[in-house]
Amino acid sequence: MNNLLRRKVVLMPGDGIGGAVLKETVKVLRAVKFECDYVHADIGWEFWRTEGNPLPDRTLKSLRENKLSLFGAITSKPKWEAAEELVPRLKNKGLVYYSPIVGARQSLQLSECIRPCLSFEGNPLNFVRQKSGGGVEEPPINTVIFRQNTEGLYAGVEWTNPPKNVRQAFETHPKFGIFKDVKGEELAISSRIFTQERCNSICRAAFEYAKKHGYKRVTIAEKPNVIRETSGMLEKTAYRIGKEYPDIWVDSNNIDAICMWLTKNPESYGVIIAGNMFGDIISDAFAGLVGGLGFACSANIGSEVAIFEPTHGSAPKYASYKTSIVNPIACILSGAMMLDHVGETHKADLIRKGIAKVIKDGKYRTYDLLKVKGQQNVIYNGAVSTEDMGSAIVEAIGDVDSSAKYY
Ligand code: NAI
Ligand code: MG
Repeated sequence: MNNLLRRKVVLMPGDGIGGAVLKETVKVLRAVKFECDYVHADIGWEFWRTEGNPLPDRTLKSLRENKLSLFGAITSKPKWEAAEELVPRLKNKGLVYYSPIVGARQSLQLSECIRPCLSFEGNPLNFVRQKSGGGVEEPPINTVIFRQNTEGLYAGVEWTNPPKNVRQAFETHPKFGIFKDVKGEELAISSRIFTQERCNSICRAAFEYAKKHGYKRVTIAEKPNVIRETSGMLEKTAYRIGKEYPDIWVDSNNIDAICMWLTKNPESYGVIIAGNMFGDIISDAFAGLVGGLGFACSANIGSEVAIFEPTHGSAPKYASYKTSIVNPIACILSGAMMLDHVGETHKADLIRKGIAKVIKDGKYRTYDLLKVKGQQNVIYNGAVSTEDMGSAIVEAIGDVDSSAKYY
């Protein structure tokens, strides 16, 4: 490939452990010979503190130009704490902190978020279930959450002490009656906005994915019996679009009910569609069944730009370790999703097979894979570093005969 045409991937390490997990991901992408150049972009706390903007315009420009990005993690703090940490020349200038990754999703309209939750054979953190006749079993989980990524409660249309005209508009709604005497500063409103266009696109993307990858069930995880307008719109859209996919069973489970069912029969779910908030929650819940944050990968997809990221945060607790010990697999799996996205499925599968082999062999375990239930903050002897885990995966990728399974 001519150098001018070579694909560029924007690397945004961000804060805390972001850089360490991203470094291993690039190492693994190089091992499968993914052809690209990497360019760095600034995001996160340092840029908030020193520039008053955690997502500088130059970063958005690079994302728009280069279209593909891998992101580590950021640190977010409440707005008053964030304002305190600004360098003196930026203090008291009315700057308000916002999450740069939520900002990037909105600025670039990355309206679909895909979060696969796959169990790897031999993962000691896999969900196990008591069998009715005694003993335990480990159901194979293969669920993919499609979360609407730009609207709903995360759109940021909210007020404490709403302005008069907003309050007046609310007062025209009969159900507002019970709030009408609440004083302004004692009233907080966060609005949940869904649009038909985005409901269409998340549902379409979910059904197309289900069809392409052979999933037999698509479930809407909302609360349409209570949140009638927004959940109702998404549910109705899913049923309408679902009619075009006769081989796929479409059903609707309330978000609270799914939280109960997923500890009983998680393997029965295929693709799940949810709005922004419920999608965030349900994807963490499913991730907990297949190894937790060390395994939870994701893609933020827009019509132009796509950003791939582990769903975990900057884990400040572990960020200061001289040798990083966190699990890079969530980030590496996100890198594999990037390869899927650009059509390099074979290389993506090589990465997943490499991870499967390392997990099954069990020789290399980061600390999270050695934790004993109920014990927090215990680092066991024998836990390997982030870098060693990355190297073990690179080595396993070379072992094409591996028969270790992921689901
Ligand atoms: P977190 O995901 O950073 O960490 C929670 C805990 O999960 C950690 O203490 C650690 O025990 C475990 N963990 C996370 N990633 C791991 C990995 N790769 N390997 C092994 N264990 C891992 O969430 P927390 O502590 O709630 O938030 C810390 C900071 O990150 C906050 O400032 C928060 O706002 C931010 N955050 C950023 C996100 C992002 O960048 N997309 C997402 C979530 C939180
Ligand atoms: Mg989350």
